[in-house]
Amino acid sequence: MEINSIRKSDTSSSLKPDLAVKAALVEQILADLFDRQTEIPPRLKEAMEYMMSGGGKRIRAALAMWACEVVSGKLNREAQVAAAVVEMVHTYSLIHDDLPAMDDDDMRRGKPSCHKQFDEATAILAGDALLTLAFEMLSTDIKNSDTAVRMIRTLSEAAGPSGMIAGQVADMNSPHANGSMQRLQYIHMNKTAEMFAASTALGALAGGATDEQLSAMIEYGMKIGLGFQIADDLLDITASSEQLGKTAGKDAEQGKLTYPALVGEEKSREIFEKLTCEAVCALQIFGKEAETLRQLAMELLDRTK
Ligand code: IPE
Ligand code: IPE
Ligand code: MG
Ligand code: MG
Ligand code: MG
Repeated sequence: MEINSIRKSDTSSSLKPDLAVKAALVEQILADLFDRQTEIPPRLKEAMEYMMSGGGKRIRAALAMWACEVVSGKLNREAQVAAAVVEMVHTYSLIHDDLPAMDDDDMRRGKPSCHKQFDEATAILAGDALLTLAFEMLSTDIKNSDTAVRMIRTLSEAAGPSGMIAGQVADMNSPHANGSMQRLQYIHMNKTAEMFAASTALGALAGGATDEQLSAMIEYGMKIGLGFQIADDLLDITASSEQLGKTAGKDAEQGKLTYPALVGEEKSREIFEKLTCEAVCALQIFGKEAETLRQLAMELLDRTK
């Protein structure tokens, strides 16, 4: 399928993906969660809430909720828990990604990054705390224990040492000069796409997906996740720090292995569009109910932050 023919496909307005609605919902779920946490030391809690409250696009949370809606026709409590949890794990990864020992970034989500606002030790521990609390939440708030275990396994594999952390390790150890396409794909699939796929997978599990539906959601998540990181690489070159809410131009400055560094901006854009088509194709087993996710894939092509 060609990108332009997908762009032209007709969508009823009720199925348009309204990210703002989903973002507001996850903000509320997270605020409620922090209200319940009365035993966290105040400064640690302040750092966790500082990073969790506002500023993020909440794409992974929205994906979890939409995936549940696609497979079951409605949004349930389990999918809302999954949405909060994937945002917590993602936010932990950003806190650590910004640390001086990693990307050394002073700005995140339009404000000072966690270690700048607090201190390095607090930022490390706030990341650890968000990661751990996410899994605690899955184990306590997902009522069906079989579903809880499947979610925990899926998320821990995606975020763990063979998933996101493997991608981050390779990202730190792969200067652009020694890069190959195979290496680059490995980095981006692991550091970013795995968490996108975990988001759609957790939402699908919350909705009681069949194996076939779950596989389709994982495939879709991997494709848009890889595309999302390519867009992140492109925006690092083309957008301003104000627009992004994080320091632009970091990748070139740090000699990172990125798509535009390896194959140029035009080819990167082509690969991104191809992945978007493939993401839409992955949803073929679904009917009109998957239009939100198809549209989202298209809208991500034009994202500016
Ligand atoms: C940033 O993710 C890190 C990447 C994997 C590219 P987002 O662009 O989703 O960041 P937030 O959550 O909106 O801040
Ligand atoms: C981050 O990739 C991926 C993870 C946090 C796992 P980047 O380092 O490119 O993300 P930004 O650009 O700092 O958001
Ligand atoms: Mg990084
Ligand atoms: Mg970074
Ligand atoms: Mg980046």
